[in-house]
Amino acid sequence: MLRRLHSEQPESFAFTAANQAWAEAQLTKFPEGRQASGVIPLLWRAQEQEGWLSKPAIESIADMLGMAYIRALEVATFYFMFQLKPVGSVAHIQVCGTTSCMLCGAEDLIGICKEVIAPNAHEISSDGKFSWEEVECLGACTNAPMAQIGKDYYEDLTADKFREILKAFENGEVPTAGPQNGRFAAEPLGGLTSLKDMKGEAANGSVALANAFGDTIKRIQGDEVPIIK
Ligand code: FES
Repeated sequence: MLRRLHSEQPESFAFTAANQAWAEAQLTKFPEGRQASGVIPLLWRAQEQEGWLSKPAIESIADMLGMAYIRALEVATFYFMFQLKPVGSVAHIQVCGTTSCMLCGAEDLIGICKEVIAPNAHEISSDGKFSWEEVECLGACTNAPMAQIGKDYYEDLTADKFREILKAFENGEVPTAGPQNGRFAAEPLGGLTSLKDMKGEAANGSVALANAFGDTIKRIQGDEVPIIK
């Protein structure tokens, strides 16, 4: 797929003060002269802040890292996790369409995206709140079909459950991430077959963190989570 910068670009980009501090702290992790190694985390933070990566954002990060613009552009346009055009103000929905998910109902989920968000991938809904795309395997095949929404995976989806989740996001709620069919993680659908007496946490590690941070779909200004010094 051809990945190009969006035809309409903002005038400028700046990290928030907290994100700037976070970015500068990241660069201390690399040996002197190797700051370009921080390009992916910094591009990602810019995307978390703005929702997508604009040309000024990419160039501003290249400047921070002492990189030629073309090198930062190569990274931003290569990796599909970087959004090169504006996304929905509430959430960008990434539905896995690869084999396991396709066999388990991903096409229904994509149909719902087309129906309730926009007919085409990367198109913003009429209310500006959502956009969607089909992505390749996100590594949660045992919990197919699934979608990544913001930072979190929503797994073991059904068409009805997916509609409910989109509605909840639209209403300003953040539905609990993880398996949507009562599974803890990726154990057998029919229940545990061994270690049945083990008592675990209420939610798996990923879901517990999602609940703790609560920043699943919000734009990251930098002061929500501890800044690594
Ligand atoms: S096939 Fe969908 S997560 Fe792997």
